[in-house]
Amino acid sequence: MPCTVIVGGFWGDEGKGKIISYLALKDRLDFCVRTGSVNAAHTIWFEGKRYALHMVPGGFVTEKCRLLIAAGANVHVAQFLKEAEQTGVKNRIGVDRQASIIEEKHSAQDKASEHLKALGTTGWGVGPAIEERVRRTAKLAKDVPELAPYLTDVALETNRAIDGGKKVLLEGTQGLLLSLFHGSYPYVTGRDTSASAICSEVGVGPTKVDQVVLVFKSFVTRVGTGPLPDEISKEEAIKRGWFETAAGTGRDRRSAPFSFELAKRAAMINGATHLAVTKLDCVFPECQGLRAYERLPLEAKQFIKRIEDETRVPVSLIGTGPDAQDLIDRRE
Ligand code: IMP
Ligand code: MG
Repeated sequence: MPCTVIVGGFWGDEGKGKIISYLALKDRLDFCVRTGSVNAAHTIWFEGKRYALHMVPGGFVTEKCRLLIAAGANVHVAQFLKEAEQTGVKNRIGVDRQASIIEEKHSAQDKASEHLKALGTTGWGVGPAIEERVRRTAKLAKDVPELAPYLTDVALETNRAIDGGKKVLLEGTQGLLLSLFHGSYPYVTGRDTSASAICSEVGVGPTKVDQVVLVFKSFVTRVGTGPLPDEISKEEAIKRGWFETAAGTGRDRRSAPFSFELAKRAAMINGATHLAVTKLDCVFPECQGLRAYERLPLEAKQFIKRIEDETRVPVSLIGTGPDAQDLIDRRE
């Protein structure tokens, strides 16, 4: 574990939230650092309650885990305060002084732009907020009085934690194919979403990372517009049990079968050391709730094996149901 990066392999919504919450509890995480912005929603089931977190890191499920929001992130102040309250983490969450602020005006600009609307953005205003940051006129966390109690130096805290042998997780948002650099441009989000970019947003050098856990879902989904190879119809998705709606915006997710080709490229660009494959039970219903690899049906094992053969990366974690504990852990 020491320093692990969690990153999405497709168009987001791979189930990173579930994997993060499992690792946080199982490995008793000390630090969980979130990047990105409010456009992402990480769904976490914890003690029978469902959370769709836009700001608070998924490591909140572990009682003493220190939660941080990176310098490269864009903070939505009202959402941050609301979630910090809801999750009861006010005494252990910190925001980097230099994180930039996403404001109502950015959301209004996002929704008013025909161009952004055509890309199917979430409407939170992330694109306009990042534009403003690049123009160097953005408001930063240190300029917001309500954030004063939370301000910290995230790069310093995180590097000290890593050097001190603490268990640190860097939590990425969205997935590689929504990356501004490596995704299906222009149908992408406003930032790079790859593992290297996650480290860069936090302020952690590449030599400090031990593991990159790349998360795939057993089928592919995408919200918003842009290409989706082998897309199936909504009716077909419902029939197969793959139909989902977005945790953040409530929009329908489009779906397609798992793509080995895309998975291979995602493993390469992210430098994945481990893979997590979620929702195996949606493709092979007999897998529902199984927690031992040996018990998987042959077909499911063959699917996992093919992912490993194509990407040349071991599948270490396999999700078989919504609960954080519905998981096969093949790590040593
Ligand atoms: P934006 O990030 O709101 O600018 O939206 C750009 C594209 O990224 C749109 O297709 C969104 O649907 C997609 N997107 C942004 N955040 C997420 C996410 O967390 N999950 C899935 N898609 C996302
Ligand atoms: Mg999501």
